[in-house]
Amino acid sequence: MAITLPFTALPNVEVFAVDASNVQIAWRDLPPGVLSATTGAITTRLGIADRPGVGEISGLSSATAHRIDLHVDDCLVSRLTVRTAASPPGALIGRVATISDMHLGESAFGLTRTMRDQSGSTLPYPLRCTIAAVREAQEWGAELIVFKGDITHTGLPSQWELFDRVLDEVSIPVMAVPGNHDVVGVKGSIDHRWALESRGIDSVEVQWRALGSSRVVAVDTTIPTKGSGTLEGRLGRVLDAVDFDGPALVFAHHHFEHTPIRYFWPPGVGQSETNDVMRTLSEVNADLLVSSGHTHRNRARTVAGMLVTEVGSVKDHPGVWAGYEIHEAAVRQTVRRVAEPSCVEWTDRTSSAVGGIWGVWSSGTIAQRSVSHRWPSTRIRHRRRDTTTVAVAPGESNPD
Ligand SMILES: [Fe+2]
Ligand SMILES: [Fe+2]
Repeated sequence: MAITLPFTALPNVEVFAVDASNVQIAWRDLPPGVLSATTGAITTRLGIADRPGVGEISGLSSATAHRIDLHVDDCLVSRLTVRTAASPPGALIGRVATISDMHLGESAFGLTRTMRDQSGSTLPYPLRCTIAAVREAQEWGAELIVFKGDITHTGLPSQWELFDRVLDEVSIPVMAVPGNHDVVGVKGSIDHRWALESRGIDSVEVQWRALGSSRVVAVDTTIPTKGSGTLEGRLGRVLDAVDFDGPALVFAHHHFEHTPIRYFWPPGVGQSETNDVMRTLSEVNADLLVSSGHTHRNRARTVAGMLVTEVGSVKDHPGVWAGYEIHEAAVRQTVRRVAEPSCVEWTDRTSSAVGGIWGVWSSGTIAQRSVSHRWPSTRIRHRRRDTTTVAVAPGESNPD
């Protein structure tokens, strides 16, 4: 039985995500019955109250404070006020989803790896959560999915075969980058480049795909057999990829450290390299969102006019995927919990890892998960469609 510390108690009810017209509610430890939400004339049945759950209220007006009454059967259990976001300015260019840190093949979680799935599901929890995220992201309207590394737990062929089960669910274009767990180099593991290419997914270190007048850039930050990351030898190609007249989303596995002393695990791209990367990126194109995985937590900050975020793992608390609405003048990131009930049951349980500290650490704040960012440039760009993926060859790049 997991021991949790008193200061790590999570709320019974919280607003986990919000955008211009939807509010995602998460709950736990409520009385038995059916949980419903009423706001104005809208009543939404959210789910079974006495099991951890996630539900969404849709059809709300934007930029408005909504009072939400939550009832278990006829009994009022909570009253929330949440302000929906303003619709991002400028025309919608496209919608992209990211899924991070699937760790396909992992069979236990926690500091001592003793937390095991007891749901009785035929699908192991990493696969179950990833498939649910893919389905929910496509239902949301994603036009492209980026798998942001740690696809597998140790790069074994059987783990890559689980990725086939994920890809079977995907009906839109895919980009992918490896994470440190895909290049860990254990006995029997296979080269991630071969694993991706044999599944029809580009594996070049730096690649981009046009989405309307924007670009989605995927960057391999791994160092073979190492846990930390780098852009050494690749930064020039990243600069080439973002050097155009439009906004770009840059996705990588490793986070960009911004403190001189590393105070938490795991290591990412070191601070001195991060400073150089952020400075040069913003000089080439300030209309950037840079997002990573690896830390299994949700964070956001602004650096030199760019939005820099970390998004949590799909398979441990809080169990999320991220949606990006790219507009001509802004981008909105909305990190949602995977709502599939058998996934919530697992991801809620994993919040008790590390004495419950994991539940608090991994969540971040709603302002770090649901965040709008206005592109510094005020250019209104011509919209166009081009879905070709472009690999940026080392010989064509700027010197690093
Ligand atoms: Fe990971
Ligand atoms: Fe990682």
